[in-house]
Amino acid sequence: MSALTKIVIPVAGLGTRVLPASKAVPKEMLTVVDKPVIQHVVEEAINAGFKEIILVTRSGKSSIEDHFDKHYELEAELARKGKESLLKAVRDIIPSDVSICAVRQNQPLGLGHAVLCAASVVGNDDFAVMLPDMLIHNSHAEQCDLKDMVAEHHKSNAAQIMVEAVPYEHVERYGVVDCAGIPLTAGQSQPIVGMVEKPAQADAPSNQAIVGRYILPSRVMELLQDTKPSAGNEIQLTDALDQLIKEAPAYAYSMRGKTYDCGNKLGFLQANVMFGLDHPETGDDFNAFIKNLVN
Ligand code: G1P
Repeated sequence: MSALTKIVIPVAGLGTRVLPASKAVPKEMLTVVDKPVIQHVVEEAINAGFKEIILVTRSGKSSIEDHFDKHYELEAELARKGKESLLKAVRDIIPSDVSICAVRQNQPLGLGHAVLCAASVVGNDDFAVMLPDMLIHNSHAEQCDLKDMVAEHHKSNAAQIMVEAVPYEHVERYGVVDCAGIPLTAGQSQPIVGMVEKPAQADAPSNQAIVGRYILPSRVMELLQDTKPSAGNEIQLTDALDQLIKEAPAYAYSMRGKTYDCGNKLGFLQANVMFGLDHPETGDDFNAFIKNLVN
C-alpha cells in the first residue's frame, strides 16, 4: 500500500447550475459565509491529512490558484496596519507542509476524464478525489468523514467511496452503489458489488448515492484510459470504478455528516445557513435572526 498523500480536486466545470453568479467568477470561488467554497473543501482535505493537492482546472479559473498563492502586497499592507488576525487568515490558508499544484483539462469530457488529467502527478500512488461542489457539514468540529474514510482505507487497503442515502426520486442525479442489500451504518464501510451512474429510479440498485469523496488505487487511472462515454455522453468515474470492483474490492463508506451541494442554488443557500450558524463571529446573531424569521 502506497502512502496516501495526494488528493485530486476537479474544478474545471462551467457552473451552469449557478449562473449568472458563475459567469465571470468560478463557482468554486462563491463564498459560503467568509470563505470560497474551494477553501472549505481544501481545509477538509488538509484536516484529513492530505499533503499534495492537485487541482484540475481550465482557462478562466485562475482566481482559484491565486486564492491559494501568496499575496505579497496585501500581506505587507495588513502587517503595516497591524491587522494580525486578517494577516493570519490570508497567510495561513495552506500550511507549509502542504503543496498545491494545477493541471489542465482542456476539453469538458466528464469527471472521469478530469481525474485522468491528473494521472502523471498521481503516478503509482493511491490517491483521493474530492468534488468541490459538495460541502460536508459535520455536527461537531472534531468529526471529519474524510478522515474516518482514510482510516477505513488503511484498515481495508482497498478503495473507499463515500455515500449518503438520498430520496429514491433523486437517484438519477448521482452515481449509485449496490451493496447487495446489506444495510449501511453511518461511520462504517461495506463491500460494493456494483455501481451505476445516474440510473433511472426503476433501475437504481439502492438509494445510496456517491457524494464526491473517493479513495482509490492508481489502477483507476489505467481503467479510465479505456472508459467510454456513458451517462450524459461523458467519461464517468463511476464506470471505471464499476470495472475496478471486478478485480479488487471496493467499499462504500456511509457518511455521518450531511452534504450541501453548492453547485446548485438551494444547496448553496442551505450551506450558507448551516456554516453561518456554526461560525464563531456570526453564529449567535444569525441564530437569533432565523428564530425571529420563523416565529
Ligand atoms: C458526479 C459523479 C456522481 C456523484 C456526484 C456527486 O456527478 O459523477 O457519481 O454522485 O458527482 O455530486 P455530477 O454532479 O458531476 O453530475
